[in-house]
Amino acid sequence: MRDPQTYLRNNREMWRQWTPLKAASAQYDLAGFRAGGCRMRALERAEVGEVRGRSLLHLQCHVGLDTLSWARLGARVTGVDFCAEGVATARSLAADVAPSAVFVEADVLDLPSHLDGAFDIVYTSHGVLGWLPDLRRWAEVVAHFTAPGGFLYVFESHPAAWMLDNKVEHPELKLRYSYFGESEPLAFEYRSPIAVPEAELPGVEYAWGHSLGDVVSALAAAGLRVEFLHEWPFVAWRMLPFMTQDQDGWWRLPDGLPAMPLSFSLRATKPST
Ligand SMILES: C[S@@+](CC[C@H](N)C(=O)[O-])C[C@H]1O[C@@H](n2cnc3c(N)ncnc32)[C@H](O)[C@@H]1O
Repeated sequence: MRDPQTYLRNNREMWRQWTPLKAASAQYDLAGFRAGGCRMRALERAEVGEVRGRSLLHLQCHVGLDTLSWARLGARVTGVDFCAEGVATARSLAADVAPSAVFVEADVLDLPSHLDGAFDIVYTSHGVLGWLPDLRRWAEVVAHFTAPGGFLYVFESHPAAWMLDNKVEHPELKLRYSYFGESEPLAFEYRSPIAVPEAELPGVEYAWGHSLGDVVSALAAAGLRVEFLHEWPFVAWRMLPFMTQDQDGWWRLPDGLPAMPLSFSLRATKPST
């Protein structure tokens, strides 16, 4: 088995190349975000609940759009990402949007060496867990930073959806990948970052599979109590070429295909001592 750091270095370099291109893309519309608004979807807002006056730690915050959306809703926010370019963009946005927001550059699995404190809410979403080689360690980090009585909220693509062959262009669900993750990651070749198809930037990304059981068991082992685990027939980005976007921005399978879970949301509480 290769050292996971080898893959993480590769992935971090990929994010370093991708992030400025994504941040400049029309899809991100940073100027529009600076001018106002909230990128947080209604479903997540409802499931997380009132954040006004509460401290919120956003893991793998990318360029901080979601972090700063929570800030606009009244949370006291801290964002973490291991990509220096993402953190720099987030800090520059924060200067205009929420000057008290804090952004930390760190590997999420090593975060206790870079950040102190405990938070009412730990939030992470949309394309995060697959980048992590060690879910048990992730859950320990989450538990470490969750204040007693506070909670973790995750919204993530569903591991069952990752089994599908995303190279099939016509509306057909074809299984290609195993449901159960291995210690070695899967390697995916790419030509350009999502959101910037015109950029020719070929490379290989490495991703680890984590079953839903892995997620729940890791959190339980870290002492968190699952309040709910909801599975949804839509996802935040176009995982398959033939998905269509609904009026709320979610990507769905076209009519005629069997319904299956494409994402999940989970809330887990750290018991008060
Ligand atoms: C798909 S993006 C998350 C997008 C985010 N939910 C949003 O909408 O803004 C994944 C992020 O995870 C970060 N990342 C990947 N592995 C990481 C790690 N081990 N530690 C910290 N950040 C990591 C990447 O730099 C990237 O910004």
